[in-house]
Amino acid sequence: MKFVEASGVKVSSIGLGTWQFGSREWGYGPEYADRTAVELVHRALELGVNLIDTAEFYGFGKSETVIGKAISGLRDQVYVATKLFPIFPVRSLVVSRAKASTVRLNVDAIDLYQLHWPNPVMPITETVKGLKMLLDDGIIRNVGVSNFSLNQWRSAEIALGKPIISNQVHFSLLTRGPETDLVPFAQANNRIIIAYSPLEQGVLSGKYSSINRPKGMRSARKFFFPTNLDRLRPLLDKLGQIAAGHDVSSAQVALAWLISKPNVVAIPGAATVAQLESNVAAADIDLSKDEIETLDEMSDQFEPVGPGAFLTDLKTFAKRR
Ligand SMILES: NC(=O)c1ccc[n+]([C@@H]2O[C@H](COP(=O)([O-])OP(=O)(O)OC[C@H]3O[C@@H](n4cnc5c(N)ncnc54)[C@H](OP(=O)(O)O)[C@@H]3O)[C@@H](O)[C@H]2O)c1
Repeated sequence: MKFVEASGVKVSSIGLGTWQFGSREWGYGPEYADRTAVELVHRALELGVNLIDTAEFYGFGKSETVIGKAISGLRDQVYVATKLFPIFPVRSLVVSRAKASTVRLNVDAIDLYQLHWPNPVMPITETVKGLKMLLDDGIIRNVGVSNFSLNQWRSAEIALGKPIISNQVHFSLLTRGPETDLVPFAQANNRIIIAYSPLEQGVLSGKYSSINRPKGMRSARKFFFPTNLDRLRPLLDKLGQIAAGHDVSSAQVALAWLISKPNVVAIPGAATVAQLESNVAAADIDLSKDEIETLDEMSDQFEPVGPGAFLTDLKTFAKRR
């Protein structure tokens, strides 16, 4: 396993995302939450992963509870990252909600406490009062943010008066906004970018197509629109070719592309232990400069259609089936 060390923390380049644990929107069912999720955490730790990412919002606390059970007796192997869902994040609520997370997670302290989204109404200066109290009391060890722009990240740091060590953002071969400012900022200032949805929820594995789409929440997401899956074919084919050259899978190349960037770690979710094992092995893949540039170019050429085209799109593809 490779690690990223920054601002005094050391996290595995591949972590484990756990939105799927106990969350109905993924449709994995109770067996997954009760058994597979625990196996995923145990196997991840065995393979050297230390970063486990969750949120109070995932499964309305269920994801944290599952992790709490799974890491019992293994606490020192885990870097626990959770998130506050920022509904009315005043000082007292920030403190009480973090404490509730420690109970579900079965830990004395949370290694990384992240603000899940910026709150458009509540001044960050109010929220950080709670974070400061949590830091002072040792209930959280570090503060992170998620879905923050660079300006919002900097403002939060100024309000906190100390480094906010990470920003967890949507980042993948298809979602490259963070490359413009967040990644350079992290690299220049000893911070970490935690890339979420690094496989675009399965799209980058190459297993989905316009006639084979996942059911449920994901089917309404932009990259799963049938037209977009068709438009993605050249990129997915190239990903497959590069993967074949390394004797690995497309999903692994998509992860290797991300973590080839200094100060970037990825937190793929997994439906099965086999997927997890494959994702972890991506940390050992070294892509050449040419391969990275080719993927960048293919990604630049991809032009997705927006939500407006979705209904027409579905009708067309329904007729075609
Ligand atoms: N901060 C935020 O706002 C935010 C938002 C979203 C996610 N997150 C975090 O980021 C984590 C990861 O993001 P995500 O779960 O949205 O998307 P993701 O990691 O891109 O995709 C996960 C899904 O891809 C498929 N998959 C995983 N590994 C695979 C492999 N090796 N081969 C083929 N398919 C594979 C699985 O679905 P199928 O097999 O069913 O296709 C799996 O459930 C989440 O669990 C969560 O912790 C944070």
